[in-house]
Amino acid sequence: MVALRRERSGPDGKIVFVVNGCETCADKEHSKLSLNEYLLNHTRWKGTKLSCGEGGCGACAVHITRWDPVTERVSETSINSCLCPVGSLDGAALTTIEGLGSSQQGFHPVQEQIAINNGSQCGFCTPGMVMAIDAQLKRCAHAGQAPDVKILQSGLDGNLCRCTGYRSIIDTCRAVTRCSDLEDLGSKAACTKPAAAFPTVLKKRIQERQNGSRPASASYRSKEHNQDWICPHSVEDALELLQKPETAGVRAVAGNTGPGVFKDWPGQDVTCIDLKAIPQLSTIRCSQSELEWGACVTLEEVINSLKAQTDMPKFYGPMVAHLQRIAGTHIRAAATVGGNVVLTQQRGLQSDFCTIMLAVGAEVSIQGKQQRWVSLEEVLLPDSTLDIGSSAIITAVRMPLAKPGETFASFKVAARYTNAHAIVNCSVRMGSADQHPLQGVCLFPDMRIALGYPHEDASAPEGAFWRAQRAVATENALNGMPAGMRALSQALSALTSEMKPAACDGTSAEGHLQVAEGLLFRALSSLVQASMMKSMALDEGQADLKRLQQLLDLPAQHVPIPCSGHQSIPDMSRLAPPVHLPIEKERARLQASGEAKYTGNYGYGTSLHAYPVLSKRALATVESINASAALKVEGAVAFFTAKDIPGANSAGGIPFLADGKVEHYGQPIAFIVATLPSIAEYAASLVDVRYGDAGQPVLTIAQARAASSFLTLPGPPNDSPGAMVSNGNVEAALEEAPLVIRNAKWHLPSQLHMYMETPVAVAEMDEGGMLQVHAAIQSIDRCQSAVSRIMGLPYNRVHVVTRRLGGGFGGKLNSVSRVAGFAAMAAVRLGERVSCAVSRDDDLRMHAGRCAADMEYSVGFTRDGVITGLDVAVYMENGIVMDSGFVDFIAWQGCADQGFHLPNVRFDFKMCRMNLPPHQAVRGPGSFQAAVAMQHIMDHVAAVSGLDPCLVRERNFLRPSPPPFSLGLLAAAASNGQSQSNSHAGNTEPGFATTPADWKMTNAFGRCFLAKEYTQLRCWHGLKKSCSFVERQNKVKEFNKSNIWQKRGIAMTNCRFDGSVMPKTALVTIYEDGSVLLSHGGLEMGQGLSTKVLQVAAYELGKVLPDHQKPLPLSLFQTNDTASDSQANNGVTAGSTGSESTCEAILRACEQLRDRLKPYAEERGSTEDTWRAAVSGLKFSGTGALAAIGFSDSKTCEEGSSKRVPMKYNVFGAACTEVEVDLLTGEKTLLRSDILYDCGNSLNPAVDVGQVEGAFVMGLGVLGTEQVDYDNKTGKLIQDSTWTYKIPSATCVPQQLNVAFLEDSPNPLGVLSSKCVGEPPLMLSASCLSALELTVEAGRQQLAALDPQYSISRPVAPQALDKSPAHEHCHPGLLSAEQPLTIRTKPRRATSSPTRSPKKAGSPRRHSPSKLGKENSPRTQALLEMDSSPHASLFHREPRTTAYEAALQESRAAHAESPKIAGQGTSEGLETLHKPLPAFASLEAPMTTARLKASLGNFSIARILARASGLGYASALDNESSFELL
Ligand SMILES: Cc1cc2nc3c(=O)[nH]c(=O)nc-3n(C[C@H](O)[C@H](O)[C@H](O)COP(=O)(O)OP(=O)(O)OC[C@H]3O[C@@H](n4cnc5c(N)ncnc54)[C@H](O)[C@@H]3O)c2cc1C
Ligand code: FES
Ligand code: FES
Repeated sequence: MVALRRERSGPDGKIVFVVNGCETCADKEHSKLSLNEYLLNHTRWKGTKLSCGEGGCGACAVHITRWDPVTERVSETSINSCLCPVGSLDGAALTTIEGLGSSQQGFHPVQEQIAINNGSQCGFCTPGMVMAIDAQLKRCAHAGQAPDVKILQSGLDGNLCRCTGYRSIIDTCRAVTRCSDLEDLGSKAACTKPAAAFPTVLKKRIQERQNGSRPASASYRSKEHNQDWICPHSVEDALELLQKPETAGVRAVAGNTGPGVFKDWPGQDVTCIDLKAIPQLSTIRCSQSELEWGACVTLEEVINSLKAQTDMPKFYGPMVAHLQRIAGTHIRAAATVGGNVVLTQQRGLQSDFCTIMLAVGAEVSIQGKQQRWVSLEEVLLPDSTLDIGSSAIITAVRMPLAKPGETFASFKVAARYTNAHAIVNCSVRMGSADQHPLQGVCLFPDMRIALGYPHEDASAPEGAFWRAQRAVATENALNGMPAGMRALSQALSALTSEMKPAACDGTSAEGHLQVAEGLLFRALSSLVQASMMKSMALDEGQADLKRLQQLLDLPAQHVPIPCSGHQSIPDMSRLAPPVHLPIEKERARLQASGEAKYTGNYGYGTSLHAYPVLSKRALATVESINASAALKVEGAVAFFTAKDIPGANSAGGIPFLADGKVEHYGQPIAFIVATLPSIAEYAASLVDVRYGDAGQPVLTIAQARAASSFLTLPGPPNDSPGAMVSNGNVEAALEEAPLVIRNAKWHLPSQLHMYMETPVAVAEMDEGGMLQVHAAIQSIDRCQSAVSRIMGLPYNRVHVVTRRLGGGFGGKLNSVSRVAGFAAMAAVRLGERVSCAVSRDDDLRMHAGRCAADMEYSVGFTRDGVITGLDVAVYMENGIVMDSGFVDFIAWQGCADQGFHLPNVRFDFKMCRMNLPPHQAVRGPGSFQAAVAMQHIMDHVAAVSGLDPCLVRERNFLRPSPPPFSLGLLAAAASNGQSQSNSHAGNTEPGFATTPADWKMTNAFGRCFLAKEYTQLRCWHGLKKSCSFVERQNKVKEFNKSNIWQKRGIAMTNCRFDGSVMPKTALVTIYEDGSVLLSHGGLEMGQGLSTKVLQVAAYELGKVLPDHQKPLPLSLFQTNDTASDSQANNGVTAGSTGSESTCEAILRACEQLRDRLKPYAEERGSTEDTWRAAVSGLKFSGTGALAAIGFSDSKTCEEGSSKRVPMKYNVFGAACTEVEVDLLTGEKTLLRSDILYDCGNSLNPAVDVGQVEGAFVMGLGVLGTEQVDYDNKTGKLIQDSTWTYKIPSATCVPQQLNVAFLEDSPNPLGVLSSKCVGEPPLMLSASCLSALELTVEAGRQQLAALDPQYSISRPVAPQALDKSPAHEHCHPGLLSAEQPLTIRTKPRRATSSPTRSPKKAGSPRRHSPSKLGKENSPRTQALLEMDSSPHASLFHREPRTTAYEAALQESRAAHAESPKIAGQGTSEGLETLHKPLPAFASLEAPMTTARLKASLGNFSIARILARASGLGYASALDNESSFELL
């Protein structure tokens, strides 16, 4: 008999555990708090971070150690503290980041290495990263395994970093493996010591429980919060509790990771039955024939038990590999098998475990009134009546062990390799293959096939419910059949018939089918191939089979390898030390040890906590707000609405609290204050808001355009809803251009900030009516003015302080003002310190990111690919008011040309007003869109003109004026890759050899600059040579020829960015002891600003010393918090201006001090204490202060005039990216990226390389994984969590990432000759999209060659309109953007003679008619032949043509010879340009796995195989097709 709610039996009534060696007794009412919240608010260990709160990012990782009294062994692992309830911790020992090392105890080697390797930028993810690496080291130590970089990186699979781009963190792993004292690493933490070191107090407690002197069952109940946590000691006890009629609201809890996915934390009214307390449920049994896991065995333990089955690697290996892709390491350490099965059955979890177990034939033990074993298949049936969770629980899962000869194959396709749920998964168990008695071929053995996918389900909210199901018809089609093409294609056909997929998460039903087909094909192909090899051995003459084998030749599924790369930095050590030196980021070690304080730290423990109530409508009147239920929650303190605002209802231009009307989903309506953050959030969810109709919201750009709903743009003409930049005569240019693409449409994606530190502020009323505010904001000014206006206070009564931000990326320019307003209002009204931190999900709902845009363009160009006219209309997405999203417009306008010569150009911008949250600038706002848009246009021109995209860019690059070189020179340079030096002119790129230093250049919009500033060609050609572009391009083509199912692409892109300076102030104070305090208006958010100012100050004040040789030691300098009292009116830290502007302000202040100190230093002469003596001399001289204020000037005079204009300089760079795409699944692999960036004389190359990599990878995110959609009906953000919004993880970065800075390129306009770096490299990620473009084109051509019914249902880009009179009659016209393109290739008789013949003797060009009746362009033809040959010959048996080689030669010739200038005639190689061209892939970012798959068009592997084997069957073919046998 177990009392449902009884007081805990023990004398103490506490939950006892140890943190970092210190005994901690948590009060019973804290049992359901997350460990994370408990640590931060109730202990002194505040270094652990909270970011997502849903297990998705790893920032909260801690180590947990448990002791088993029976075996006397300790088990240790890392977990997510945000998902671990305190109630589950009794008897556990924890280690937090502080327990590993600190400035006091000495840093742990991993903490040191991550700082040395510059793996910490904002530092918010860093403690989690350190814990993850350390956990892997301990796992290795436990397994007696030597750690290597691969193992250590695999431990990062549950951790995210938004700043670094991961290369430096992976290098940290490398460096750690090289640590000489590896064995000592673990011993630094108390809990890593052997079992003997497990805290005695806990052992005693556990033993008491074991021997009965302490009850095994314990419950902790909170009267205050009505919370309860019960630890039953047996299954019977647990069932009794669950089955009691009065126990509504009772829930079994195991690992409690479920709430990370389904967001139902065992809340305030739920009583938790902790199944993990039942020893029986955590046992693992292995007999001769089966392996059994108790329901509470974790997935990590499952993996370990499978790894222990060393005898059959072909069976267990694939299983383990798949299981290791579940979530991340920390989740797998907590998630249990029982929980996984229940969530799959009841909630439609996209489970990998269940798919694998279904294929293996697992059974589940269910215990209700009786215990029985049921097959997992039965448990997962849609109509299963098993009632698990209330009247019964799962007690175990068992699987049969492998029989001799059995193999297993298992695959998952997901948005990211790690920590992403499956889109489709597939597992196959294969018995031992028998040989066919007659032919020697194998027979498909006993097969069990399981698939997981979103199943159509009309009763599910979105019409889809994930199911793991057996593919019985498919199994039947295979079992006992000869393992050949016929059975395989029949099985694939059966598979697509028996699956009932639904469209889900952006993947169509058809897409799910295709991926499933691809996975099964992958699983079976090797067996079929092996079988065919055997049959070939019997009959050597079957050459066809050999060719068919190629179709089955599937390389293993891509497994990420740790990113590596080199950083090439010019030697600048002598220029101005310690400036330009790669110095470790100041306080990086404190970030790594958790000692560095973030804004949230000021609010933990002692504060009240505010939390906003958010709108659930996009447009509605607010009829009533009822907070009575919310205020009944224990701990809820107060509730505020717009009526309580003492001042203005505006936070920096955005509405503070909705008043009577809401205009977007997620708009704050009110806020609650409570004693703990989780209570405030919970209470806020209970506020009842009633809405009324307010009309139809505008939710799409199309709707905004139709309704003419636009925002007014800043700047002239500011009364119009748009703005335009133009040059030349666009209409005439388009009219006259030989080739025109008209009205092409393209969409540019949005991107959410996903900084690791969510918006947070803490406020407190101080004496004298002074309001103290700590805010994680990128503009102290904005926060001060917003809070002042909300509170109706003068600015001088609001003091805002910021030490550092856990990432900003533009998202904290203004929006945090609103959060600061909540805290300030409550602090003033309640007279207490109040903190407000918004959760990950609500932050994403409240704040929108980068302005997505619809772009329409017409471009005219010559046959040589030279653009003569460009007309672009841009419709940008924005919210209800213009917040910092206006920068998207300004910056795009400023660098729309991207360094290309555009003689006739027009960009017409409009900003749509939509019922969405106001958009915020995201890293590289506008400039990123400008780059991606121009690179896309270049790719389009290249595709249509049939030229190499690299060449098209080269032909369009900006030229000095008057042009000192011909395009021929440029092309010659391109082909030989050589550069001639002309340091006088500042340009060493080819073509500039004779450019005088004072030559001017003018960009497309008339901005004039010195030719020596133009380093674009140096970057381009330097990179082209250093990354061996031309050679690799050829290798890619070779690869594509010999691989059917995998295609590669390689592309180069460039960028131009407008560098500028913003006004910043600095106060440099020297103290009597010679130490120096630097206060400045810049905000440190990971970009290394504080480190650079130290370097600059040490350099400039070092000039005080007579010999000028040595800088002052950095240890003399300290940076101060940024605060509104000392550094007012500093604007924003954004736009890549912060570091340089702040350094300039510091420099100016130091110059003054230098001049004041110098006479005293000279008087003293060169001695050890000259500095101190000079300081002392000045102090007592009475001639000048030991403090000075500096100011960075953001303006400069126009040449020859006194008119002051904003100072701007050009930043250039180039990148090359090579990618590989799996045609079966749409998965992409970034093989290599090379970047050559002009950083001027980088102030700190180590920091700046980190900026380049971080920005580049953030760009890969927006182009590759980060999808942003708003629900068309409700306006709700769909991707509002880490579960759905996927920023790049460590496995998403290029396998090789090389970064180099341009040598000898001082910036005449930059501080100490530097250039900005925070944002421009983001633009270079466009190289990835361009490479994907080529890859998809190659893939489409391949698939079109293989499948006669291949079609592309995605939009294709318009083709060129050729105005050449000779061809007017046959141009294909414009394909509408919506028009699907169907390519049908006609198979030919095997015996037919080649139909392709040279056009004329000696001409290498050949054309084959397509189904459309037109000839293909050289590029199309080349692609067709490249990809269909030799694979097309599988079907056609015709000799390979040489058109591809011809096209290649032509391309080479075009590089080598002086290219023809527009209008100078048509080269022979271009004469077929008017002919129908292949669908330019026109990929729209983000090219997620699902979208990539869709962009590859519709094909059927079953059909392809059937056709290839000559065994076509009617169901696979349409009626018209006359399918011919081989
Ligand atoms: C960030 C993240 C990523 C993830 N990625 C993946 C992935 O890629 N692939 C994948 O397969 N899964 C994934 N998961 C899901 C994860 O595997 C499950 O959350 C986990 O297995 C659930 O186990 P648990 O012990 O934490 O269950 P809990 O959260 O404790 O419980 C979940 C539910 O099951 C019930 N329950 C638990 N145990 C029993 C039992 N023995 N009998 C009856 N009812 C029980 C509980 O009452 C509750 O309703 C992910 C989860 C997270 C948080
Ligand atoms: S905060 Fe716990 S995983 Fe993100
Ligand atoms: S350093 Fe990793 S999130 Fe900022």
